[in-house]
Amino acid sequence: MKRFLYILAAIILLAQLIRPSKVAEPVDPASDLIALTKPTAELEGVLRVACYDCHSGQPRYPWYANITPVNWWLAQHITDGRKHFDATTWGTVPAYQRDHQAKEVMEMMEKKEMPLDSYTWTHADARLTDAQRKQISDFFAAKRDGSWDVEKARRKAAGEIK
Ligand code: HEC
Repeated sequence: MKRFLYILAAIILLAQLIRPSKVAEPVDPASDLIALTKPTAELEGVLRVACYDCHSGQPRYPWYANITPVNWWLAQHITDGRKHFDATTWGTVPAYQRDHQAKEVMEMMEKKEMPLDSYTWTHADARLTDAQRKQISDFFAAKRDGSWDVEKARRKAAGEIK
């Protein structure tokens, strides 16, 4: 038993050497969502606290983000999250992609699927009120230009999507 515990401890220690690199990209004012769209200070605060840790190139890392395997789990959230909605590249993606992301954000607010539960367990300040959800949703609604609907129709006609 004792030997088993030593081996386990050694594995856990060695695993600490294998860490994903942290995401820390410079903010490009010509591309960042907040820089470009200038939301109210209140809404900016909500977006930074509740979304930017997984949907931007400037996540804030908690202390436990240094521990393997938690760090891999967080890194996966950031990679996955940014694939769907990335505040850092907001201004540089094609218009229809921006429109699509705005539509998805509105959907997530309505279904209360974001921020992820696992995040709000540890980030109490990211638990959104209904008023905050509406504020986010209305903000993104105003950014929609319908270009995603046009692109979607094109893709359907071309048989690229169902
Ligand atoms: C803890 C990390 C985390 C936080 C915080 C977070 N998200 Fe996400 N988000 C993800 C991940 C991971 C995915 C992709 C997988 C999924 O849909 O669950 C995602 C997906 C999305 C999608 C795409 C959904 C789809 O169906 O394509 C949108 C839009 C989104 N998030 C918006 C937001 C908004 C807005 C906030 C802030 C209010 C937020 N997220 C906060 C991790 C996060």
